[in-house]
Amino acid sequence: MNPLAKTLNEQIAGVNLSVLDMLSNLGRELYMPKGILTQGAEAKEKARKYNATIGIATTDAGPMYLDCMYESLKDFKPSELFPYAPSSGLPDLRKAWKEKMIKDNPLLESRQTSLPIVTNALTHGLSITADMFVDTDDYVVMPDKFWGNYRMTFALRRGAEIVTYSTFTPEGGFNAGGLLEKVRECGKAHNKVIVVLNFPNNPTGYTPTPEEMNAIANGLTEIAESGVKIVAVADDAYFGLFFGDECFKESAFTMLTGRSANLLAVKLDGATKEEFAWGFRVGFITFGATGPGDQSAMFSALETKVAGIIRATISNGPHVSQSAVLKSLRNPDFYAQRAACNEVIKKRCEKVKAVLSSGRYNDEFTAYPFNSGYFMCIRLARVESEKLRLHLLDKYGVGVISTNGTDIRVAFSSVEEKDIEDMFGLIYKGCKDL
Ligand SMILES: Cc1ncc(COP(=O)(O)O)c(C=O)c1O
Repeated sequence: MNPLAKTLNEQIAGVNLSVLDMLSNLGRELYMPKGILTQGAEAKEKARKYNATIGIATTDAGPMYLDCMYESLKDFKPSELFPYAPSSGLPDLRKAWKEKMIKDNPLLESRQTSLPIVTNALTHGLSITADMFVDTDDYVVMPDKFWGNYRMTFALRRGAEIVTYSTFTPEGGFNAGGLLEKVRECGKAHNKVIVVLNFPNNPTGYTPTPEEMNAIANGLTEIAESGVKIVAVADDAYFGLFFGDECFKESAFTMLTGRSANLLAVKLDGATKEEFAWGFRVGFITFGATGPGDQSAMFSALETKVAGIIRATISNGPHVSQSAVLKSLRNPDFYAQRAACNEVIKKRCEKVKAVLSSGRYNDEFTAYPFNSGYFMCIRLARVESEKLRLHLLDKYGVGVISTNGTDIRVAFSSVEEKDIEDMFGLIYKGCKDL
C-alpha cells in the first residue's frame, strides 16, 4: 500500500475504526499523489519569475483561449444550457467531433469507427477504458516516460500491472522495438495486453515519425494476428500540436483501426488542449473497427456500455460546455484560431531547440528528443532533480517539474518565447549553485 494511503487510513482509524472497515479495498488504497500536482501547487506560490510547471498554455495576460470559444458563452439559448445532456453526450456534438476527427486525420475517411461518446474529458475517458477493459493483474504496456496519472487509472484503481520499456533508442528515436518486445512478452504470459500510445507524449513532448508509427502499427497488428488480444489506447490529449516536420501528424488510432480481429483501437481525445479549454471537461472516446465488414452493431453495443458506465458514475456530462464546444466547431474561424494558438506554442518549442542547440549547457543537462506537445524533458548530468527543483523555486522563482531522480520536465506551453533563454540560463545557474 502506498504510504500516503496508509497515513490517511491511520487518520481515519484514529477517529473511527468502523469507518475504515466500511471502505472497499479500492477505498483503502486511495490517496492523492504528491507528484506534479503538489509540485505545481508549490510553484504557484513561489515561482514568481517563470512557472514552467503548468499543464495549460498561457501568455503574460493569462490563459490562452480561442475567441470563438469565449464568444459562444455570451449567447446561449436556455435549452442549450439547462437541461441534462444525454449520458453519451449531445448527438450533434458527437457528429461534429467525428467530422473534425476525420478532417484532422484524413486517413480515417476510409476506415470505420464508432461515433465518439462524450466524456468528462480525457482522464474520464481513460478511467472508462480502464473500467471496461482492465482486470486485476492485466498488463498495461507504456513507455518509461509516461503521465503519472496512469498509475492511478490503471494500477491503483484497476489492479493492473504497468510494464514499461525505454522510451527512446540510444540513437534518439522512439523505441518501437522495445514496445513490441514488451507486448510480445506480456502476450505470452497473459494473452490480453493493453497498450497506451500517448503522442505527443507527456512528459517528453515526442511524437514518432511516420516510419516509427508504421513500425508500431505493423508490429502490433502482427502480434494481434498471432493470437494476442490487444486493446490499443491512443491518448491524444495533445493531438495537433505537432511542431517538427518529422512528426507523424495523425493519431496512432488511425493506423490501428481495421487491422486485426484481435486489435481494438480506442481513441481518447477532447477539447481540453485541442481547443485550449482545460476547465470545460469535454472529451471523447471512440472505438475503431477490428476488421473490414460492417461493425456498426459492435460499435453500438460498445457505445451503450460506455453510456452505462457514465450513467452509473456521473450520470451525464455538463450541457453548457458541450454546447460551447459544439458552437466553436461550427464557427468558420475555428481552424484558423486553433492554428494561431498552436503557432504560438510552436515558436516556443523552436526557441527551446535553438537555445539548447548551442550545447552551452551540456555539462549540466541535455534534452531528450522533443518535437511536439506542451513539454520537453532535460536529463541532469550531476544534480539530483528534486534538489534542483526546490533550489530553482527558492532562489530564482522558477518552477519546473521533477519527474524522477535525473529528469526535469519543462512546460514551454506556459513560458513566453522571450523568456525561454533566460529560464534555461537560470536552470543552468541552479545546477552550478548545487
Ligand atoms: C497524457 C495526458 N492524458 C490525459 C490528460 C488529461 O486530460 P484532461 O484534462 O482532458 O482530463 C493529460 C493532462 O495533463 C495528459 O497529459
